[in-house]
Amino acid sequence: MGILEIKNVGKRFGGLQALGDVNLSVAENTVHAIIGPNGAGKSTLLNCLVGKLIPDTGSVTFQGQSLLGRSPHEINQMGVSRVFQTPEIFADLTVFENVMIPCFAHRDGSFKLNGISAIRGQNDIKEMAEAILMDVNMIDKRDMTASSMSRGDKRRLEMAMCLVQEPKLLLLDEPTAGMARADTNNTIDLLKEIKEKRDITMAIIEHDMHVVFSMAERITVLAQGTPLVEDTPENIKGHPKVREAYLGEAQV
Ligand SMILES: Nc1ncnc2c1ncn2[C@@H]1O[C@H](COP(=O)(O)OP(=O)(O)OP(=O)(O)O)[C@@H](O)[C@H]1O
Ligand SMILES: [Mg+2]
Repeated sequence: MGILEIKNVGKRFGGLQALGDVNLSVAENTVHAIIGPNGAGKSTLLNCLVGKLIPDTGSVTFQGQSLLGRSPHEINQMGVSRVFQTPEIFADLTVFENVMIPCFAHRDGSFKLNGISAIRGQNDIKEMAEAILMDVNMIDKRDMTASSMSRGDKRRLEMAMCLVQEPKLLLLDEPTAGMARADTNNTIDLLKEIKEKRDITMAIIEHDMHVVFSMAERITVLAQGTPLVEDTPENIKGHPKVREAYLGEAQV
């Protein structure tokens, strides 16, 4: 059994069946990529895992425990963190303050944004945030305002905000979207290092096949809300169903 088990998950938006009947198992300590064309239902699936959407049908379990019916905060506390497709950072706070936010919420569960001055005194939290910033190579940017950073740095900050929650499962929705190639390669190296160092299982949604084939150990291809094929990267490369799903757009 995988660390994450998705069984018969369906989700409808009005007349649109965004997810049909999704079955997916993510093995512990692996990187599992979910690929597919725009609108395939990839983000919807992740939203169903973290309490942002409630699936109409099916079950989702993490380490044998259901994630359905739980609040996003509870799911976080169980060890599941997510980097969203659209960065959710606090633009006017510094890098360091951003990283301390989930850190504090994780430990105490009572964080309020207007209490930022209160958390500045928490030494253990500071140390934790500093260690994470070292891991993502952002310690030299700790006092920069989040809004002033490049897109790539914002994504790395988001990853840091997830890592302070000490996740066992990290869900990444297009972590390299909009990045220049050099930034993308840095992100690949960074995620690989983090995975080794912290024993984190990763489920990653990506359009960039360079990222997918550099990182993934298993790949699920989703099209129109249904998994078409799940296999190793070697077998996915050149798979006729994958070409069909992408209408020739993917470089696989
Ligand atoms: N909250 C919503 N209300 C209505 N329709 C939605 C909602 N969220 C997503 N959809 C629709 O569901 C389908 C799947 O969307 P989703 O965002 O999951 O696709 P995706 O695979 O993540 O695409 P992309 O690669 O472009 O990010 C799309 O047709 C989208 O327009
Ligand atoms: Mg998406």
